[in-house]
This record gives sequence, structure tokens and C-alpha cells, in this order.
Amino acid sequence: MCGIVAYLGEQPALPILIEGLKRLEYRGYDSAGVALLNGGLKVVKSVGRVSVLEEKLKQTPDLCGTVGIAHTRWATHGSVTELNAHPHSDDQHRFVLVHNGIIENYSTLKKVLEERGRVFETETDTEVLVTLIAELYEGDLEKAVQAAAREVTGAYAIVCCCADEPGVLVAARKGSPLMVGIGADEFVVASDPSAIVAHTSRAFALDDYNVCRIDKTGFRTSTIDNHEVSPKVMELELELEETELGGFDHYMQKEIFEQPRVIRNTLRGRLDHKEGRIVLGGLTEISKELVKARRFILTAQGTALHSAMIGEYLLEDLAKVPAECEYASEFRYRNPIIEENTIVIAVSQSGETADTLSALHEARDRGATSLGVVNVVGSSITRDTDAGVYLRVGPEIGVASTKAFLGQVAVLTMIAIHTGRRRFMSPDECATLLRELDQIPDKIERILQTAEAVKRVTEQHIHKENWLFLGRGYNYPVAMEGALKLKEISYIHAEGMPAAEMKHGPIALINDGMPVVFLANRGRQYDKVLSNIAETRSRGGHVIAVATEGDTHIESVADEVLWVPDCPEPLSPLLTVVPLQLMAYYAAVARGHDVDKPRNLAKSVTVE
Ligand code: M6R
Repeated sequence: MCGIVAYLGEQPALPILIEGLKRLEYRGYDSAGVALLNGGLKVVKSVGRVSVLEEKLKQTPDLCGTVGIAHTRWATHGSVTELNAHPHSDDQHRFVLVHNGIIENYSTLKKVLEERGRVFETETDTEVLVTLIAELYEGDLEKAVQAAAREVTGAYAIVCCCADEPGVLVAARKGSPLMVGIGADEFVVASDPSAIVAHTSRAFALDDYNVCRIDKTGFRTSTIDNHEVSPKVMELELELEETELGGFDHYMQKEIFEQPRVIRNTLRGRLDHKEGRIVLGGLTEISKELVKARRFILTAQGTALHSAMIGEYLLEDLAKVPAECEYASEFRYRNPIIEENTIVIAVSQSGETADTLSALHEARDRGATSLGVVNVVGSSITRDTDAGVYLRVGPEIGVASTKAFLGQVAVLTMIAIHTGRRRFMSPDECATLLRELDQIPDKIERILQTAEAVKRVTEQHIHKENWLFLGRGYNYPVAMEGALKLKEISYIHAEGMPAAEMKHGPIALINDGMPVVFLANRGRQYDKVLSNIAETRSRGGHVIAVATEGDTHIESVADEVLWVPDCPEPLSPLLTVVPLQLMAYYAAVARGHDVDKPRNLAKSVTVE
């Protein structure tokens, strides 16, 4: 979604801001802009990529200064135009503001401000916010931002500066992430740590309803009611190389191919083969609750929802606890009933997805124990849960989530085994599963060695505009994920569903040569999947089967086969999804799309 970078220090701010914006490009945006403070305020904005902004900046050579703010915008209020891009100013051009999030009461505020004679030139909520700050200003920017924050509802991460206080930046946050990086004689404020790490690894995340005033002597954090607070300064673990392409053509490709390594990292130190148990330090706080749990509710959106759906199967199968999975956006609004001993698991790569965060708050307010399965360290979900397990897959830059999905499934598998072991599972049964789990990274590596074959199969069908993905049991969510990946980046229409559901309607769609991808690996429902394959082929569908190595029968019933190594059924999603990720990637490349910047998509959806 939108990205914020701000700089205050000794160096020229512009190159630092531009470099920061480039590091945020992966989040998705449609326009960009910068504002520099040097005597007065100078603002330059453009529609399109940061490179377009850079070109425009070449025609503004006098743009200099050591304090500035910058933004990549993803339109919410107002169309994609230069005027609507950030930074926004008040009508006197004394204040500038960059803003992520949505101000919900902006139209009421706008009316009041108009009555006071303020003039607006855009349709944006952000222009209302900067005007409100200007209206409340009495010679102290920090106080004006605090006062404005007390009047707005909705979500925001903002950085503001004012021509009357040229050496000051004021940042504030509610419901949208914002970090302050502390360097030697410089500060970088950003909505994402990837824009900070090139300058410093010391940083803190602003809490909700907190404001931070920065000048060259230091910073002060306070609540919006002006009570001073001490932020928790941490070391960012992110390495700069992790955010770079490292020889790959696209981040998505890099992230698919690094899955063996990152999943080894997810598992590292957590499988105790000797004692036949899982060691998850993040669960210590709720170990009693896990033993007593009577129900798990898993909640998430998008790809994370698909891994949560697999978690539902895993928890019932391996921990024998009733589990259900639901879209966070639906869960939070349906007056959910939370009984005693319910554990809610929020699954999220970013830890900032607005719907997931709100669902979590809803469940927690109704008495559930909360558990986060999250990748980004220190993100909002990790701070608002009773316990949590990190994915440890490193920064995921590709908008289409791949390695985070595998990390989520691996963590949910460990949580299910851990819970089962605490309740009834024998050390031997557990040890057998752990041995199998340990082999998963090597098996993923074997699948990646077949990438060329996946590419060949995929390229034959990229002109087809409708695809089906079908699976049963553990592989029903994998089918959903395969379809989501394909549509996200190749813009091919794809549906994923339980294989049995096909006969209840979607079979009507199957016509000559329609690609139908079956998850047909060995498992409890293998024979039933074979019947679904026969039904599909007899209607002219072109069957691409993901099948278990050594399955000699499948070649006679499918048109094409993509192979995965054998493994116990509960672990199979960790393998079967990989060919589908490759398929989506190669389809998008062959159709000439920008894989890492898919149209209309944002990496992290921090508004409802
Ligand atoms: O950061 P999260 O995991 O909470 O994000 C959830 C979804 O927005 C995300 O998975 C989205 O569906 C991706 N584009 C999928 O590739």
C-alpha cells in the first residue's frame, strides 16, 4: 500500500528520499512525490513510477535541503492524478504532509474547515488532515499534530513539516505502521524498515496514538494527549542484501527459489528429535491454554487465509482440537461467539493487514487467547497478541506471497504437532513427523529442479483465459492458493475449489482444452481425485496433475504431470504448492507482465 519516507539530518535529503521510495516500490502505488524544506517548502509530484518522478526532479535543479518527506500513493480518496498525489499542503502552503491510511471523518472536518474559510483543491482526506493541522497550529507543530490526531477517526501514519519550523519533523501513528530509524546525526522515518536499513539498524516502531517530534538534537515521543512515552529501540535484523534481487530477474522468482533455505531457517532449533517434541519459545506464555484449548479460530486474508485453512486441517488432524478458519473481514462483523478456552490464531506475513488486526482485536475483546503467526518482527499483530511464532523467512518483497505462505504452513504444522504432543501424541509418533518435516526443505529443492518442465507445461496454456484448480482435503486450500497466484500476476481468470465441488456447477465451464490443475498427490482421497480427473477429461478439459514421484498410473490419466516427492499427507501442502507458484510466475513472465508490481495490488492492505 502507500509508502512513507522522511529524512532529517546532515546530508542532502533528496537522494535519500528517492532511494527510500524505490525500496518501497514493491508495496504497490500509482503516484509519488517529495517535499523539501529549505527556507520555504518545495513539492514535486508525478503519476506513475518513481522513475517518472526522478525525471521530473531533473527539471527542478534548485531542490535541495536536509529535511524532507516523500510518499508513494495508492489511491483511496480521489483518482490517480498529480494533484491527488502526496505530499499535500494547506491552502497557505506552510505545512506539508504525507499520510498512509484513511481519515474516516474527513468530510465532516472539511465542512467545518471550509466554514472557517479554508480552501481545498483536491478530493483527498489527506488535504483535510494537513489543513486541520494548519488550523490548529499555534507556533508548535508537535502540539498541532497532537490536537489534530485527537479530532480524527480512522487510520493514519503521517509525517508533517512546517515552513515556520524548518528543522522539525513530526510523525504520528494510529493503525498504520511507522518506524523511526536513529542514525548518527540523522533520522529516517518510514512505513517499512526496508527504507531505513541502508542508513541505520537502530529503530523503533511508533505505537498507536503516539507522536514523535524530531529535530537535529534528538527526538521526543508522546501520546496525543502530550504524555511523554519511551519507545522501545531495537536492532533491525533486516540485511540490505535481503531486500535486493541478488541475480534473479524478479523478487517473486528469488523468493520461490530461496524457499528451501528459508524453511530450514523456520524449522531451525524448533525440532527436538531426541525428545520427540517441538520447541516454540513464543508459545511459552500460553502453554496452559494450549492444553486446555477447546477450539481454534484461524483468521487471515488472501494467501494467509489459505495457509490458515491448512492450519484448520492440521489442528484437527494432529492436535485433535476443533478448528475453523474464517476471512478476518467477515469474522469481525458477524458478532462471533467466543466460548471459554478458545484460541484465535491471526496469520499474516506483514502483521499489519487491517482486517486481520481488527478481527484479532474483536476476538481478544470477547475473551479469546490470541496467537500470531507473523513474518514481520515487531509488527502490529505481534504487539497485540498474547503469544506468537515468527515465520523467519526474511523480508518478502514480491507482492505475490510465496515463501511467507510456506513459512506460515510450516509454523502452523509445528503448532499443531506441539499442541498434539502436549495433549496425547506419543514421543515416537512426534519424532516420526519431525523426521519427515526435517526433510521438507530438501524435497522443495528437488521440485525446484523441475522448474524448466513446469515452465514448458505452463507456456503451452498461457493463451487460455480460464483455469480451474482442484484439490481435496489438505490440498483444497492449495488449489485456492494456486488459483490466487495465477490471477494476481498473470491476470488469467482462475478458480480454486474442492475437487468434489466441480460437479455441483463449475463443470459447466469445462470445454475443449480448458486447463484444469489437479492436486493428485498420494493421500486418503487419491482415488476420488482420479474420478474427478476422468470426469474432467471426458468433457474435454486439459488435465495438469501435480502427482507423487513414482506414481505410474497418473501418466495414463492426466495430459501432463508435475512431480513432487512423497511425504506424509499433513505435510503435503508444503510441497504441492511449489509447482503452482512456479506456474504462476512463468505464466506472468510469458504474458509480459511486471511480476513484482502487479496491477492494482498492494503488498500490505492496511485499510479495510
Ligand atoms: O500481510 P498479510 O499476509 O496479512 O497479507 C494478506 C493478503 O493481503 C496477502 O496474502 C495477499 O493476498 C497477497 N497478495 C497474496 O499473494
